[in-house]
Amino acid sequence: MGWVPSLPGGRGRALGAVLLVTGAVLSAPAAFALDDLDLKIGKALFERAWVPAPASTRADDGLGPLFDARSCASCHPRDGRAAARFDSDGHVEGRGVVLVLGRPDGSGDAVYGRRLQIDAVPGLKPEGIIGAADTALADGRRARAPQPSALAYGALDPATGLSLRVAPALFGRGAMADVPDAALLAIEAEQAKRADGISGRARRITRPDGRVVLGRFGWRAAHPDIREQAAEAFFLDLGMSTPLFREPWGDCTAAQSACRQAPHGQGDAEDGVEIPEAILSRVVAYVASLPVPVPAASGAAVADGARLFASVGCGECHRPALPTRSSGTAALFTDLLLHNMGDGLADTLDEPGAARDEWRTAPLAGVSRALAGNTGLLHDGRARTVAEAIAWHGGEAAGTLARYDALTAAQKAALAAYVASL
Ligand code: HEC
Ligand code: HEC
Repeated sequence: MGWVPSLPGGRGRALGAVLLVTGAVLSAPAAFALDDLDLKIGKALFERAWVPAPASTRADDGLGPLFDARSCASCHPRDGRAAARFDSDGHVEGRGVVLVLGRPDGSGDAVYGRRLQIDAVPGLKPEGIIGAADTALADGRRARAPQPSALAYGALDPATGLSLRVAPALFGRGAMADVPDAALLAIEAEQAKRADGISGRARRITRPDGRVVLGRFGWRAAHPDIREQAAEAFFLDLGMSTPLFREPWGDCTAAQSACRQAPHGQGDAEDGVEIPEAILSRVVAYVASLPVPVPAASGAAVADGARLFASVGCGECHRPALPTRSSGTAALFTDLLLHNMGDGLADTLDEPGAARDEWRTAPLAGVSRALAGNTGLLHDGRARTVAEAIAWHGGEAAGTLARYDALTAAQKAALAAYVASL
């Protein structure tokens, strides 16, 4: 509330009321009180477990008919990254590992749609079980391929591409949204002139009206902002409609008729959707408020590691600082561009504007938390350590990997310790 309450009792309140009436409050510090409350509500909505319709509490219902999880928080636990864990049959444990389905034209599988949903409302069959087949390599790494099973609606079309992805941590995504498009285009232009093979591309997304926007959210930078990413999660992962994706049946395809006919949430009378703008915008504001993680450790070894990180070329893609509109710079350790990372990291999903071997430079800010939580690194969680994650780098990063391979064991350890401190 800033300076308003510091005035003697009654006068402060009266002045606050006057400011509200005159509209002057918009630029006054008093406006922050409203933001704080919105963030608290946003956090509660992020953690809320939605329920299928019809429910006694209408405000909570509309989950499904098909869904992957009941809340944002079940895939992004404590706003962090999901753990990629599989049982002895290779079946995923817990939530937060999703199987994305798609065709090169951007559509989904004709029967299963754009996600393999592992849950459904009572009376409806879930689509199947998400699994992974791991192969141990000679150097100790494990390769990973998606392996869906118990498919309830027939075989998957062999032409459908599959991409296994873990839910990333959400810290610092507000700062990520705050990086101007022009900064991405400037880095793209700068890298295009390099002779060492590093040449990232901003993800370009063509809207139905022909407008082109730049993507930056998701492992393949498929979304331009947090709002669209959150609306897609409501739609595909929770099966709930929003002002952006208005169909109440979420990812049920025309081939899944029982799913299309299942009961839907009443939603909000005004917006006519299960998740009205008032909910969506508060969830988005909450996610955007999560700060960029600050590295905990420092010291001589870490400082050596930081120098090596720059000298072998990691920092070319994992940029220690990106310019932001409001706060100067953000230490996210990404360039937010797509890079060809080679066959070792490729999956079988090509999308408009992003090929199967292209990935957004993963932001390294917060890697220490992922390592502490033993979640696994890389888009499908296959790497257990920083060294394993580095060893998977190919394609545009091949030159960097060769320089890394030429380091002494002690230098490699210092570099890994630095990355693990972020
Ligand atoms: C079933 C699990 C699941 C649920 C539920 C889920 N997410 Fe996610 N989330 C993911 C995955 C997986 C990705 C990466 C997507 C990709 O690469 O396309 C992701 C990505 C994101 C990102 C982009 C992060 C980045 O690094 O670019 C944001 C923001 C996000 N989710 C917010 C939300 C919000 C808000 C909700 C609730 C409305 C939500 N998520 C629900 C799994 C989930
Ligand atoms: C050409 C750009 C490029 C260079 C150079 C590069 N990386 Fe990466 N890095 C990426 C991309 C893209 C990903 C995401 C790949 C994926 O998940 O499939 C990634 C992922 C990672 C991850 C996993 C992060 C996570 O959140 O799961 C780590 C750790 C990492 N890189 C460290 C390094 C280090 C250390 C170096 C230098 C030795 C390096 N990278 C050089 C582009 C690059």
